[in-house]
Amino acid sequence: MQLETRAQRGKYFLKKGVQVLSLCCSFAVALSKGKLILNFIPVLESVKPMFRKIASSIFSLVFVLLFSNLTAVAQDGKALFNSNCAACHNPIKDATGPALQGVDQRREKDWIYKWIKNPSAVIAAGDPHAKELVDKYKIVMTAFPNLTHEEIDAIIKYVDDYKAPGAEPAAAGQPAAEPAAAESNGWLYTFITVILLALVIVLWRANYGLRRVANEKEGLPNEKEVPFYRNKVVIAIVVILVFIFCGYWLTNGAIELGRQQNYQPEQPIFYSHKVHAGVNQINCLYCHAGAEKSRQAMVPSPNVCMNCHKQINEYTGKEKLVSAEGKEIDGTAEIQKLYKYAGWDPAKKEYIRDANGNIKDQPIAWTKIHNLPDHVYFNHSQHVKVGQVQCQRCHGDIQNMDEVYQFAPLSMGWCINCHRQTEVKFADNKYYSIFEKYHEEIKSGKRTGVTVNDIGGTECAKCHY
Ligand code: HEC
Ligand code: HEC
Ligand code: HEC
Ligand code: HEC
Ligand code: HEC
Ligand code: HEC
Repeated sequence: MQLETRAQRGKYFLKKGVQVLSLCCSFAVALSKGKLILNFIPVLESVKPMFRKIASSIFSLVFVLLFSNLTAVAQDGKALFNSNCAACHNPIKDATGPALQGVDQRREKDWIYKWIKNPSAVIAAGDPHAKELVDKYKIVMTAFPNLTHEEIDAIIKYVDDYKAPGAEPAAAGQPAAEPAAAESNGWLYTFITVILLALVIVLWRANYGLRRVANEKEGLPNEKEVPFYRNKVVIAIVVILVFIFCGYWLTNGAIELGRQQNYQPEQPIFYSHKVHAGVNQINCLYCHAGAEKSRQAMVPSPNVCMNCHKQINEYTGKEKLVSAEGKEIDGTAEIQKLYKYAGWDPAKKEYIRDANGNIKDQPIAWTKIHNLPDHVYFNHSQHVKVGQVQCQRCHGDIQNMDEVYQFAPLSMGWCINCHRQTEVKFADNKYYSIFEKYHEEIKSGKRTGVTVNDIGGTECAKCHY
């Protein structure tokens, strides 16, 4: 699940909190079957089992709901779409791949399942529609062999219900947008929790009253009434709740520390990937050559820029350049900034040199956007060259960004999820000849593919020093 905005995060914590609360309440109820009710209310021995049954069925109901919700999260179409498909697809606009809205009307469900699980196989089978798509979009889509039909359905549903942000709200009579359904889940829990809490309090008071009456009848002295905030059971429950809540919050906060999804700093030069990699189709590797050869992708030095900008000294593009704050940018002035760093005199069309003949340039202090903690080992060439993973799957639609922002969370879960779901290019890679067992299983048809997980891509030591 991706939590992009503060509001989303707030809602998520609220929901989780409510879940923990309902679990605790059900524990309290289960507890109460022994303590609060049976010990004090003078019920007949024969009805006791019934009380027990009620208590435990409430307990299991809450438990089942808790888990049914967890699976609902797993099939949250939006989250699945964002983590697997959003790098290449926009629901309503063509991007690296086609707009997906209404795809289930254009295509058979079966075709869609087959396609998503293994596009190469569909193409190899000579499917005309697939060929047409590949001819148009040039790249073959990544395979997702591990997505279940339910998960694909959830994605398609999300895509079909998707409305552009800021689009007018659904007209009267039309069903409201689907996300409400996911939200209503949260309210269901709030509702259940409130009811359970009320139940606990009512039972408690009833039990208390009954006990006093019973005592009076039998002429026993009644204990002094203890206010609820000094009642030991209440204190114990509150302490446990606070403990669980704070622990949960703290751990989560600590894990997220240092993560910076969506980070988009202002750079010393307004350098637009959209202009370069998008409109002018410059290959990513022209500037980030390291991505194919080494651990680091590397950001180019000014002399790489100057290969082109000795000639290109003004920005004449049709598209207006607008910064993230909405300020209009003068591209030509930005190129002048580049000249200062590169030590280039645009009037004389030559480099400015010092007495020793060295070019008077200085590095551009780009702000680094993606940062993994030092204890993680990540290697670009392993992914780009060996694994053939598209840059866009990890960095988003860079070719459409004026200013780069961090697209992926760079969390451990993000790495591992992809390793579980992504197949390695196994068949024709000598590097994998050591995995004889897998090769044989593929030959005999027992296995359709090998994921990164299968070759050990989720072992701790592969990513941690
Ligand atoms: C690496 C980029 C990439 C990713 C990631 C990706 N796709 Fe695609 N998808 C494409 C491209 C490109 C095409 C067009 C066919 C081709 O060239 O392979 C396509 C085509 C499709 C089609 C056929 C569309 C049509 O009009 O018939 C469907 C359906 C689809 N993708 C669904 C998905 C889903 C669902 C996901 C996420 C689980 C996903 N794709 C992830 C790039 C991608
Ligand atoms: C003409 C050179 C050039 C091309 C082509 C280019 N980039 Fe960049 N890229 C840069 C420069 C300069 C920066 C540093 C400034 C910035 O962050 O915008 C950068 C930054 C980035 C960053 C962020 C690095 C960080 O600080 O964490 C990513 C990711 C990236 N590029 C990916 C790509 C991808 C993917 C493509 C191809 C679609 C691409 N780049 C094409 C020059 C280029
Ligand atoms: C392969 C050629 C090439 C390289 C390398 C290149 N550029 Fe450009 N640059 C262009 C083209 C083409 C334009 C668009 C000119 C136009 O549309 O008039 C452009 C436009 C620009 C602009 C104005 C638009 C904008 O993005 O704000 C700036 C600033 C710029 N480049 C900076 C850089 C920097 C910094 C580098 C090095 C990291 C670089 N360029 C590397 C070809 C290149
Ligand atoms: C499997 C995911 C993945 C793929 C694929 C990927 N990157 Fe990265 N990229 C990352 C991560 C993670 C970082 C942060 C690395 C760090 O902090 O050590 C990063 C950092 C970068 C940086 C910042 C400089 C650096 O080397 O740390 C650039 C530039 C970059 N990537 C460009 C690219 C380009 C261009 C491609 C495609 C050719 C690409 N990346 C493909 C995950 C990926
Ligand atoms: C978009 C999918 C994707 C993401 C995200 C991703 N990886 Fe990978 N990773 C791969 C693939 C595919 C391979 C297999 C490459 C190959 O064929 O050897 C791989 C291989 C690796 C390997 C080598 C495993 C081995 O057994 O040799 C390491 C280490 C690794 N990744 C680290 C990371 C780290 C760290 C991150 C997160 C910062 C990450 N990866 C995120 C797809 C991904
Ligand atoms: C595919 C790569 C990968 C594998 C495999 C992996 N980790 Fe991580 N791990 C990461 C990344 C990336 C981070 C940084 C997450 C962040 O910055 O939030 C991380 C962070 C951590 C942290 C710091 C806490 C946190 O979440 O930031 C611990 C502890 C940890 N990993 C333990 C493990 C253990 C134990 C295993 C083996 C079961 C393991 N890791 C396997 C990529 C990996």
